[in-house]
Amino acid sequence: MTAPGDDIDQLMAVMQAAFDPAFGEAWNRRQVEDALMLGHSHYALVAAHGGEPVGGEPAAAFFLSRHGFEEEELLLLAVDPAHRRKRLASALLDRLCADAKARGAARLLLEMRANNPAEALYRVHGFKPIGRRAQYYRSAIGERLDAVTFSKDL
Ligand SMILES: CC(C)(COP(=O)(O)OP(=O)(O)OC[C@H]1O[C@@H](n2cnc3c(N)ncnc32)[C@H](O)[C@@H]1OP(=O)(O)O)[C@@H](O)C(=O)NCCC(=O)NCCS
Repeated sequence: MTAPGDDIDQLMAVMQAAFDPAFGEAWNRRQVEDALMLGHSHYALVAAHGGEPVGGEPAAAFFLSRHGFEEEELLLLAVDPAHRRKRLASALLDRLCADAKARGAARLLLEMRANNPAEALYRVHGFKPIGRRAQYYRSAIGERLDAVTFSKDL
């Protein structure tokens, strides 16, 4: 899926606001552009009202995913801190599940650092932990953190 430059600008603005620099999880623009160029990748932006941003409205949240054989991987999901706990991430996850299923995916996978509060969101949406990579991430202060893989049958 290709993305117009304006959409990448919007996505990067949410990325920079949403991810805590302590964990180095935010992607840079080049990484996002490369992911989108590889194909089989999908994204969606929503504004604060939950619909598509129109007429120059800022995006409040986005997801980025990659489709593989019978599986789709959620690469990034982020909501601007000013618009959290308004079900924007939930709406994006519901949309991704429906779209991934329509693309032929039987399950949705994601990986996150252990103890990310996002785990509560994923569990509410029916994701279950299926694996753990010990000390996979390194925080800005050098702390090693496990990565946990979650899966949801579609
Ligand atoms: C995790 C994140 C995407 C959640 O977005 P959100 O739009 O606020 O989530 P929702 O409003 O859809 O939350 C739905 C439910 O999930 C759970 N939940 C969401 N965020 C939570 C948090 N920080 N702590 C505990 N539970 C949480 C709650 O049950 C919530 O329902 P409630 O508000 O009625 O209690 C957002 O906090 C974020 O962008 N975090 C930084 C980036 C990140 O870590 N992304 C995920 C890893 S890639």
